[in-house]
Amino acid sequence: MLAVTVNVKDRLLEIRDVDRKGKGNVLLKTLRNGICGTDREIANFKFKYTQPEEGEYLILGHEALAKVISVKDEGLFKENDIVMPINRRGCGKCLNCILGRPDFCDTGLFRETGIRGLDGFMREFFYDDAEYLVKVFPGIEDIAILAQPLSDLEKSVEVILKIQERLNWRCWDSTYSCRKALIGGTGPIGILTSLLLKTMGFDVTMMNKREINEVEEEIVKETGINYYDNTKGLGSLEGGFDIYFDTTGYIPLILDAIRLSKRNSIIALFGFPSTDIKGDFNSDLLFNIIDKQIAIVGLENGQKPHFERALVHLATWKSIWPKTMAKLITRKVKIEDFEEVKKAIKEKGKDEIKVTIEWG
Ligand code: BGC
Ligand code: ZN
Ligand code: ZN
Repeated sequence: MLAVTVNVKDRLLEIRDVDRKGKGNVLLKTLRNGICGTDREIANFKFKYTQPEEGEYLILGHEALAKVISVKDEGLFKENDIVMPINRRGCGKCLNCILGRPDFCDTGLFRETGIRGLDGFMREFFYDDAEYLVKVFPGIEDIAILAQPLSDLEKSVEVILKIQERLNWRCWDSTYSCRKALIGGTGPIGILTSLLLKTMGFDVTMMNKREINEVEEEIVKETGINYYDNTKGLGSLEGGFDIYFDTTGYIPLILDAIRLSKRNSIIALFGFPSTDIKGDFNSDLLFNIIDKQIAIVGLENGQKPHFERALVHLATWKSIWPKTMAKLITRKVKIEDFEEVKKAIKEKGKDEIKVTIEWG
């Protein structure tokens, strides 16, 4: 069977025949994979945590839509169900993992499909256990692949709200309409975070270091999210912000955000730094964090409840923001087009949002 593999010893990205289907009670056929920034980092041998399950190669992929082919014990799933597998698996030792929250694994011995220690979903078939599968309801198969990255963000926003419960954070009308969220980066993560915070009533601005492009213009028009070009820094953003959500990993921008964010704000860090860039953390910034009581939090990985919530949000957005939702998957490549697939995994194209691999 075909699979997309990364050979960590010879530093090769390949599409080839493998006989690794993994373990589990449910046999699945892959319908579609999403390509994410992490896949790109892994395929370019820049990701710090890449680890094969066995031997020298790792089967790539942590975003998948799949069809149930057969089930050993009938119960949760049946043949032909459309499902999504969750991507992080617990260490089996710590309490958080045992209670189904390996996103907060205490030992750090969790594994992630297609990333660290477990083969991923960019293969024709795989076995998995029912407990790691989430059912996709009808009507959203076209965009359901976005539920994996969105699950990370559902978890992130849940954490942000929990942290901000440290103060009276709701507005006079008990909503979040007076709270400003600034999102750094307009890739899939930046856009999905903006949509999510907008749904929750925040005043949302997404930003990039360039002029707004056509798709972003449409998103702004349809959803009421604002766009800010930060070529000249954050200085001319009026009124500051209560959340800065970073998807860029660009340290100078993050430090600027700390400097300009409002009192009692939260700096949410999601994007890994992709280059070895340094920034100037100094006493002035430390004064800023302490005196303004800024909370800074690192965010990673969503779990089953977050996948479920993500699917519901996608269905909602498809009905309230149809034009936006039709624009997020910018390209589909067929698995048979080996060179195209490899290129799509290695490099991000211009104005690309989400690219998928189609298994037919
Ligand atoms: C995945 C997360 C994962 C993270 C770190 C992201 O691309 O979507 O679920 O936890 O990478 O490995
Ligand atoms: Zn990802
Ligand atoms: Zn654990």
